[in-house]
Amino acid sequence: MTIKDIFNDMSYGPAPEGTDKVDQWLAGHKDGFGLYIDGKWIGSKGDKSFTSSNPANGKKLAKLAQAGDADVDAAVKAARKAQPKWESLGGHGRAKYLYALARLLQKHARKFAVLETLDNGKPIRETRDIDIPLAVRHFYHHAGWAQLQESEFPEHTAIGVVGQIIPWNFPLLMLAWKVAPAIAAGNTVVLKPAEYTSLTALMFAELCQEAGLPAGVVNIVTGDGSTGELLVDHKDVDKLAFTGSTEVGRLIKARTAGTGKKLTLELGGKSPFIVFDDADLDAAVEGLVDAIWFNQGQVCCAGSRLLVQEGVEQALLEKIRLRMQTLRVGDPLDKNTDIGAIVDKVQKKRIEGLVQQGVEQGATLWQPERQPDSAFPDAGCFYPPTLLTNVDSSNIVAIEEIFGPVLSVLSFRTQKEAITLANNSRYGLAASVWSENLNRALDVAPQLKAGVVWVNCTNQFDAACGFGGYRESGFGREGGREGMFEYLAPVRGKTAAEQDLPVPEVSGQQQAGIDQTAKLYIGGKQARPDSGNSLPVISAKGVQIGLVGEGSRKDIRNAVEAAFKAEGWSRTSAHNRAQILYYIAENLGYRADEFTARLVSLTGVDKKQAQREVELSIERLFFYAAWADKYDGAVHQPPLKGVALAMNEPLGIVGIGCPDAAPLLAMVSMLAPVIAMGNRAVLVPSQRFPLLATDLYQVLETSDVPAGVVNIVTGARDSLMQVLADHYQVDGVWYCGSAEGSARVEAASAGNLKRNWVNHGIARDWFGAEGAGREFLREATQVKNVWVPYGDSI
Ligand code: NAI
Repeated sequence: MTIKDIFNDMSYGPAPEGTDKVDQWLAGHKDGFGLYIDGKWIGSKGDKSFTSSNPANGKKLAKLAQAGDADVDAAVKAARKAQPKWESLGGHGRAKYLYALARLLQKHARKFAVLETLDNGKPIRETRDIDIPLAVRHFYHHAGWAQLQESEFPEHTAIGVVGQIIPWNFPLLMLAWKVAPAIAAGNTVVLKPAEYTSLTALMFAELCQEAGLPAGVVNIVTGDGSTGELLVDHKDVDKLAFTGSTEVGRLIKARTAGTGKKLTLELGGKSPFIVFDDADLDAAVEGLVDAIWFNQGQVCCAGSRLLVQEGVEQALLEKIRLRMQTLRVGDPLDKNTDIGAIVDKVQKKRIEGLVQQGVEQGATLWQPERQPDSAFPDAGCFYPPTLLTNVDSSNIVAIEEIFGPVLSVLSFRTQKEAITLANNSRYGLAASVWSENLNRALDVAPQLKAGVVWVNCTNQFDAACGFGGYRESGFGREGGREGMFEYLAPVRGKTAAEQDLPVPEVSGQQQAGIDQTAKLYIGGKQARPDSGNSLPVISAKGVQIGLVGEGSRKDIRNAVEAAFKAEGWSRTSAHNRAQILYYIAENLGYRADEFTARLVSLTGVDKKQAQREVELSIERLFFYAAWADKYDGAVHQPPLKGVALAMNEPLGIVGIGCPDAAPLLAMVSMLAPVIAMGNRAVLVPSQRFPLLATDLYQVLETSDVPAGVVNIVTGARDSLMQVLADHYQVDGVWYCGSAEGSARVEAASAGNLKRNWVNHGIARDWFGAEGAGREFLREATQVKNVWVPYGDSI
């Protein structure tokens, strides 16, 4: 070929990245890799193995051990043994190791990038410029958190041994997201990489050796889902952190219900990419390239649902098609490649299947013609960039996560419709908003049910900014301060068991004139229970002193509906919420004697103790009224020209199950932070002492609490809480009761993956420091990060 030919043709020349160093490394392990346990490489106790291959050409890369029961057990034991010493090293001691790991990763960055590309099939440009630098940044950032741990997280300790299961789409990056905060906080880990992409984790294990990380702090076991299950089920694991499919996340939530294992789940998504008619369309098209064609669309937060305003739909589609024709699909090692290989044939088949179903359901498929200079290798596992138009909102491609380079397009007319469409998903991971009108973009962002919102940008990540989802995209955050809390446990005083008190038989004489039943409180009104039944309330002396309604499934449904309608509360100003909490406190104060007498009569405590409980309940209301307008978010300064606004948002509707201990104080201590943060509550009071709750709604009625913000259903607490946990519209459940009741709540919450805060049968000292505080505020909120770039470029 002459220079003239090249000028005429203007095609890309090949620009492959060299693989020598990685080839050498792989050749050094040609007999297979062992497991990394207790700082040593060991063979699996079983004889099972599997291979990892390069999806771009189908060639085998390595043989890996499939860890079995004995291996996982050995890894957990090693982690357990190492944990106390690792934690007692102190923040600075651990910071030095995290810093060393960051430095080493940086030093070997190119080797990691090449290995990742070979193993996963993603373009070298991405592994080199995004995956590995971000992984490095995570270790640096968390070296900082380790250093600051004692001052920034007082009264917190490490959780212990953490099991971590990661997916194949960002293998080393997900390892960094998991390992860095866990060990920074003083935990030790057993990590299982995904079976398609374990190699960078094994190379990372060598770095741990090189850094002199104490044995057992990081253990790596390879294997498929069955190895993952062994880790999930292991009795000596204190916390599990999982990233992967929603199905497996749900399974893990159900399997760990009642075990006391802390859980974070980062699951799937079907994230909207919203383009308004006042957007810079060319910028939006470039955004889309990053949103859906980055990493072949195998990104949990991929902007896979394009929502475009009708007036600009055709213009935008034209620009998208034009741009798609320039995307080069091919050898991932070539620096000019935009779209590499799909991780495995199984995934490719899944993409093909979903696209076919989408077309059968009415979508129109468009794929660019193959570029003459695009080396789309036939042997590899490739899928072209794909556009699906004429998609209606019930089409499977508008609902399901495809996890491939496939963009589904829907249109909208108004801003309101855009928000409704965007939120019409069971997921809630991320969203992108495109408009040159910042007022509009910042008005839309808080209304989107997603953990991350990118304004005029997309797929931005940083170690300082928490990442994680709402709804079926999981719960918990990775990165930033909020991510550190996921690996820390508050220091708790006593660990006595919570006593659920049986409702005793009547032994004394019934009081006269008590045939009136205290009703339920739903939507700001007193409501008869649907069952028409009532339950007796017995005093400490065994006398029946009242009746309360026996709430049922139907009443819970009505209460949730009322809470749903009270959505305005979540938008009302923090100042207004504070005012109302103060007002409740004031009105409770007026009736302090009545409540004191009620406590004495119901629980049998002496008057002084009852007075203390009432006074402290009033103080708690003041406390959360004070916090209502002070629990602010943060403004992060990630490495882009712009800011990321970390906003504390309410969960939505929270179910609250109250204990019998300190029945007024515990109820107020749970309810006040929930509503102070803008949630609406469905509260099930102590089963033994429900009259305190029915008395309380008389206080609420006089305190301007809007209808539906607090709903009270009396009756069999654990059964009612299970109904709440099972309810699709409930976003979170707090429960303080028995270990068995906690397990029931957690198991029932697996359905729509709602967040739980349960006590696992361990009593809380409601009168002491652990009866109130920031922990309650954190549990009542979730962090949304809104990324706002400014200037001409990001
Ligand atoms: P997956 O959820 O099965 O795999 C993720 C990780 O979980 C892997 O390490 C796997 O070995 C492990 N695992 C699988 N079953 C397990 C079990 N029962 N217990 C414990 N660990 C288990 O995801 P898969 O099958 O690789 O991909 C299927 C679909 O899931 C994809 O097409 C995509 O839609 C979604 N996915 C989403 C990810 C995300 O980041 N949101 C990441 C990976 C997959």
